[in-house]
Amino acid sequence: MTLATKDFQRLSSFIYNELGIKMPDSKRTMLTGRLAKRLRANELESFTDYCDFVFSPEGQERELVHLLDVVTTNKTDFFREPVHYEQLVQKVLPTLIRENGLNTGRKYRIWSAGCSTGEEPYTLSMVLSEYAARQPAGFPFEILATDISTRVLDVARRGVYPETRIEPIAQGLRRKYLLRGKDRSNPEVRIVPELRSLVKFGRLNFMDREFGLNDPLDVIFCRNVIIYFDKPTQEQLMVKFCRHLRPGGFLFVGHSESLQGYDVPLVQVAPTIYRKAKS
Ligand SMILES: C[S@@+](CC[C@H](N)C(=O)[O-])C[C@H]1O[C@@H](n2cnc3c(N)ncnc32)[C@H](O)[C@@H]1O
Repeated sequence: MTLATKDFQRLSSFIYNELGIKMPDSKRTMLTGRLAKRLRANELESFTDYCDFVFSPEGQERELVHLLDVVTTNKTDFFREPVHYEQLVQKVLPTLIRENGLNTGRKYRIWSAGCSTGEEPYTLSMVLSEYAARQPAGFPFEILATDISTRVLDVARRGVYPETRIEPIAQGLRRKYLLRGKDRSNPEVRIVPELRSLVKFGRLNFMDREFGLNDPLDVIFCRNVIIYFDKPTQEQLMVKFCRHLRPGGFLFVGHSESLQGYDVPLVQVAPTIYRKAKS
């Protein structure tokens, strides 16, 4: 069964407009393969039926989340691109504290934007908790973690992972922040409640005009997300991030991502780390 040009165009323009994800004709075979499973799951006969369903009110409610999973990549890891966490602790946090102080009555706010199944915000939560414990005056912080996919957010909120996923986490941190499940036939770990309570999860689509975030952020991690967007969409997203970033705040992007050439008030301070101008 093939995905006819008309149906592919309906889907690809919807995916681009709603998610910002480019879906050129070269992706048609990939999309056909992945959607075949959704056809079977919905007991539909053709891709045209699938399109009619997914664009219907019922489909928007029931099927959109699956279409999202088909087109997005949720790959993530604990301590992915570990150099970022070192730079956060060694350079970024000391700079923020030096310039803004502690005990100002407010918490530093860190955003994991495009958090997938939660490994990134929980890594941040471990790293920042360790940092806070080492500071004589502590380090008050809160973490916001958002994604467009309700499926990955459910996994993230639960905070339960197969033991095979925790390899990048140092032994000392595992002992402190992970609880082992009792079922040895299905070895799993759970993030301790104290760490989970430091992270607030929410659904947010980067294509929305307004993000509905009230307080400004000190640090944004948006890694391995913009790679799926075309350049105008990337630039528009950076403009929105700048609105929410405190002057002097930092933005981290993935190691294969760059903001070069974008008209935004960000200065590069390391290969994938940017800082918002102070005024
Ligand atoms: C590859 S994961 C990156 C996870 C994590 N930041 C990391 O680097 O390991 C990309 C995430 O971006 C999310 N995403 C894609 N398009 C989005 C959009 N328009 N709005 C919000 N999140 C989006 C996907 O659902 C996915 O979970």
